[in-house]
Amino acid sequence: MYNLDAFISDVGQVVKSEQNTWALTDKVKVLLSKFILEGEIDEKYCEPPENPKGVALHPVLVAEDGSYMIETVVLPAVLDAPLHDHGGVWSMIGCLKGKLYQPAYRRVDDGSKPGYCELALHEEAILEKGDVAVLPPHRDIHTVINLSGDWAVMLNVYGGDLSKVKRHWYFLKEKRMEEFQSLSPMKD
Ligand SMILES: [Fe+2]
Repeated sequence: MYNLDAFISDVGQVVKSEQNTWALTDKVKVLLSKFILEGEIDEKYCEPPENPKGVALHPVLVAEDGSYMIETVVLPAVLDAPLHDHGGVWSMIGCLKGKLYQPAYRRVDDGSKPGYCELALHEEAILEKGDVAVLPPHRDIHTVINLSGDWAVMLNVYGGDLSKVKRHWYFLKEKRMEEFQSLSPMKD
C-alpha cells in the first residue's frame, strides 16, 4: 500500500532535488499514477459539492515554501468549463475516478494585444483511473470534460501555489482572455 503521507513526501523529495522540469514532471507523474492505483485516499477528498452542477476543490497539501501543491477536483457529470491556465507553472492531472477528456491548447498569436488571444489545439488526452496528463510550464491552456456520466474525481499536482500566480480564462471563439486569481486553497 502506498499511503498519502508517503506520496506527499516522495513528491516533496523530487521537487526539492530535481532541477530539470522535464525530469521532475516525469518522476512526479510516475508517483501520482502509482498512488492512484496502489494508494487509498480519504473519502472526504472525493465529496461532491452541494450544487449538483458545481465543482468541488479539496486541498490536500500546499508545501510551506509554495513549491508545489496537491488537490482533488470533483467534476459534475455535465460541465461546460471554460479554458484556463495554471499560471505558467508545471502541473499534472491524474484521473482518480471516472473518465476524462482533456484538450490542451497553445497560443498562436504573439501575445502583444492585451486581452486578445488566438489558440490552436495541440494535444488531447483521454484519462481513466491511474492515467496522468502533464501540462508543461506555459503550455497549460486546457479544460477537462467529464465523460463518465457521473461525478469524476481528479488528483492534481501543481508546481506552485496557484493562489499566488496570475491565471487566465480563455474564450476560444471570441479570441479573448481574462485574468483571474484563485482563492487560497488552504482558506479553511
Ligand atoms: Fe486546470
